[in-house]
Amino acid sequence: MLDHTKDQLTRELGTSGIQASAVGLGTWAIGGWMWGGTDEARSIKAVQASIDHGVTLIDTAPMYGSGVAEDIVGKAIKGRRDKVVLATKCGLVWHTQKGNHFFDTDDGPVHRYLGKDAIIYEVEQSLRRLGTDVIDHYITHWQDPTTPIAETMEALEQLKKDGKIRSIGASNTSPEDVKAYLAAGQLDAVQEEYSMVKRDLEQTHIPLVRENNVSVLSYSSLALGLLGGRMGPERTFEGDDQRRDNPRFSMSNREKVARLMEQIAPVADAHGATKAQIVIAWTLQQPGITFSLCGARDEGQAVENAKAGLIRLSEDEVRAISTAAATHLTDLDA
Ligand SMILES: NC(=O)c1ccc[n+]([C@@H]2O[C@H](COP(=O)([O-])OP(=O)(O)OC[C@H]3O[C@@H](n4cnc5c(N)ncnc54)[C@H](OP(=O)(O)O)[C@@H]3O)[C@@H](O)[C@H]2O)c1
Repeated sequence: MLDHTKDQLTRELGTSGIQASAVGLGTWAIGGWMWGGTDEARSIKAVQASIDHGVTLIDTAPMYGSGVAEDIVGKAIKGRRDKVVLATKCGLVWHTQKGNHFFDTDDGPVHRYLGKDAIIYEVEQSLRRLGTDVIDHYITHWQDPTTPIAETMEALEQLKKDGKIRSIGASNTSPEDVKAYLAAGQLDAVQEEYSMVKRDLEQTHIPLVRENNVSVLSYSSLALGLLGGRMGPERTFEGDDQRRDNPRFSMSNREKVARLMEQIAPVADAHGATKAQIVIAWTLQQPGITFSLCGARDEGQAVENAKAGLIRLSEDEVRAISTAAATHLTDLDA
């Protein structure tokens, strides 16, 4: 019987010296925004169940519910701060209209802005909401075309010297952005979308980041739930759930994914695992993918995803799943 704390796959975050579980808990859905709302008590249980099952990496952001996800994470980790590698973000702002207009929410416009003044303001807001005095991994959420990366990096390196953050990451980057970060300071990780349905990172980023010892935190590793092994035709989405009008969740895509899942099923059976767990394990065994962030809305999903960090697929199994994905996921909508 595997021990979920002892056998949990852990990896280093870049060259920061920080070790974290390879499966990370993502908290976008916990923030409610774009996911049809949230439930605080259920979300706190999800975070705590993840930690109890060996997940140490928790990823959040101010943007997830305009502070809601960070508040919830802060409450959930009270008394457990030492067990967690806490990652949060900056650069999507609603306290100022500097930078580059990105989108509007009910609370007003959101800008991409990574100027020094905003970063210094934002870090204090996040520290307060998270109820901590240090953020282990601080990430620029989206890139701001109006501020030179060298200025952003100077602010982040200063925060590191001041002991407010311990490592630096960048998200939604181009390879040119990554090079600019590397030239200006110590970039420990990028956070980018990667899953069986979206693999362009293998061409765009993986060679560059491997060469520079930069970790990859894959986001939407379950393709927003499409790859969870349970996305039947009957599933509907409520309220502002982004999946409502997303072509990724078309009936034709669900059928293609169902055919892929038929091929994943025997591998899952062989490991006494679920299909979602095999999808996560496969992601973590792709070259250059260091951490896999998986959203979980409740205790059940949190425990299931955490336990994926105990699975080691054979090379043959990884190859067979890759072939099945290439066969069934071609011409996917979106
Ligand atoms: N840097 C960025 O710009 C960025 C962007 C996106 C995400 N992220 C980060 O990456 C994290 C993960 O990505 P994500 O949340 O977008 O998508 P995801 O992990 O691919 O999907 C999460 C959703 O899948 C469903 N799910 C979770 N576990 C499941 C399981 N075991 N079986 C079946 N369904 C399951 C849940 O939705 P239902 O139960 O409602 O189906 C859950 O909300 C985020 O939470 C966030 O921390 C970062």
